[in-house]
Amino acid sequence: MSFTRVLAGLVAAGLLFTAAPGSAAGSPRFVGDTGVPLDAPYVPTPQPIVDAMLTAAKVGANDIVYDLGSGDGRLVISAVRDFGAAKGVGVDIDPVRNKEANANAKSAGVADRTSFVEKDVFRFDFSEASVVTIYLLPEMLQKLEPTLGALKPGTRIVCHDFSVPGWEPEKTEKIGTAVIYAYTLPAKKQK
Ligand SMILES: C[S@@+](CC[C@H](N)C(=O)[O-])C[C@H]1O[C@@H](n2cnc3c(N)ncnc32)[C@H](O)[C@@H]1O
Repeated sequence: MSFTRVLAGLVAAGLLFTAAPGSAAGSPRFVGDTGVPLDAPYVPTPQPIVDAMLTAAKVGANDIVYDLGSGDGRLVISAVRDFGAAKGVGVDIDPVRNKEANANAKSAGVADRTSFVEKDVFRFDFSEASVVTIYLLPEMLQKLEPTLGALKPGTRIVCHDFSVPGWEPEKTEKIGTAVIYAYTLPAKKQK
């Protein structure tokens, strides 16, 4: 089931957009396998969409690719293994996901060029990225927007299913029910 369908179901059930105790006002909360509070549930990006996202970002040998909310590490691992990125970094608040991601990177033979950090994405410095991939909920994108807009000119940002609020994508691609939004930060900030 796609993230969009999961989201639609949650909205219909009245489970989304309700602040849980301890969460930021209006921020949706989910719970990970070990009880860790999440701002988005774990829904992996299917591999054809991973490939399309990294293609849209034109990932190559000079790139440092960050995935925000990196799950089992598939975007970071593919960026390094299949697109030859110099380095890949994932950040996920759920330790279960980071354990999986590290194991997957090892199996894929890219452990030396990938790392997975257990941190809240809102307290994480990803300013060295040349490419940022994102599959997170709209509220998270809204909150991340100023940080994304402050990244280096030329940084490519690719989002799965949810776009950066207020930004005009340079490319939008539909793959089945999924949508990819691609941006390149201009010399002047978008806002
Ligand atoms: C929709 S999944 C995307 C996983 C992966 N990027 C992919 O596309 O396959 C969202 C991920 O964000 C993580 N996450 C949720 N809230 C987070 C937060 N505040 N900081 C870091 N990661 C978070 C979840 O644990 C989950 O793995």
